[in-house]
Amino acid sequence: MFDKNFALTDKVAIVTGGASGIGRAIVELFFEKGARVVLVDIKEDVAEIAQQIGGARALGIQADITKKETVERVMATVLEQFGSVDIVVNSAGIALLEKAADLPESYWDKTMELNLKASFLIAQAAGNVMIKQGRGGKIVNIASQASVVALDKHVAYCASKAAIVSMTQVLAMEWAPHKINVNAISPTVILTELGKKSMGRRSRRSDEKTDSDWPFWLSRRSRSLGIIFSKRRREFNHR
Ligand SMILES: NC(=O)c1ccc[n+]([C@@H]2O[C@H](COP(=O)([O-])OP(=O)(O)OC[C@H]3O[C@@H](n4cnc5c(N)ncnc54)[C@H](O)[C@@H]3O)[C@@H](O)[C@H]2O)c1
Repeated sequence: MFDKNFALTDKVAIVTGGASGIGRAIVELFFEKGARVVLVDIKEDVAEIAQQIGGARALGIQADITKKETVERVMATVLEQFGSVDIVVNSAGIALLEKAADLPESYWDKTMELNLKASFLIAQAAGNVMIKQGRGGKIVNIASQASVVALDKHVAYCASKAAIVSMTQVLAMEWAPHKINVNAISPTVILTELGKKSMGRRSRRSDEKTDSDWPFWLSRRSRSLGIIFSKRRREFNHR
């Protein structure tokens, strides 16, 4: 059972894709728990969104995080404004869908650039800060059920999410000695903009399921996969 009775008082959290969907919900929870939160998003109104949700405890940085120099600038701004980094959530992601036979090269490249490379760049930059700080940290990568389930027209998306899980395993192993927990979470379908687009239509009640609804049906069954990976290396963390 997930224990929601935790505090994040004065922790500094970075949430990519924090201006909408899953990222925004995480941002709202982190504020409730007392954290200072940095929303990093390509959306132009991210600073206003941050201000509305978190006031003085919030910072909104508009950035396309697929470029290393941009990620370095983001990290420098966070350190300048808030002084440290304790938590990172990599939620920014896209789903560009097409049958594998017809998938444009640009769909593949854009998917990998954001879902995979940007998540790595952010984790790398934050991981180095956390190592230097010497007091550990938490990095959460939002993967997907798509990391282990085949979905029609999702070839690039599924591949990117499987790679997120693999990347998470290596980061968790390498950074365990520094007390940095790196985990991936694999949600099923959540009706954000991305979720609706990914499923190609609006939500319907599960008892209205037809054969063409198989991803939803599969989602319900795969919910038990939940958090598919947790590599905490307790032997290090509890020393
Ligand atoms: N919604 C679902 O059903 C579902 C299921 C499993 C996993 N996920 C994953 O959860 C994460 C969040 O998805 P969501 O449903 O909240 O989607 P969303 O579209 O609501 O949010 C994605 C956010 O990423 C931002 N973004 C896009 N490109 C960016 C860039 N280059 N730089 C910085 N920010 C950028 C967008 O502006 C947006 O605010 C994604 O990684 C997605 O793959 C979603």
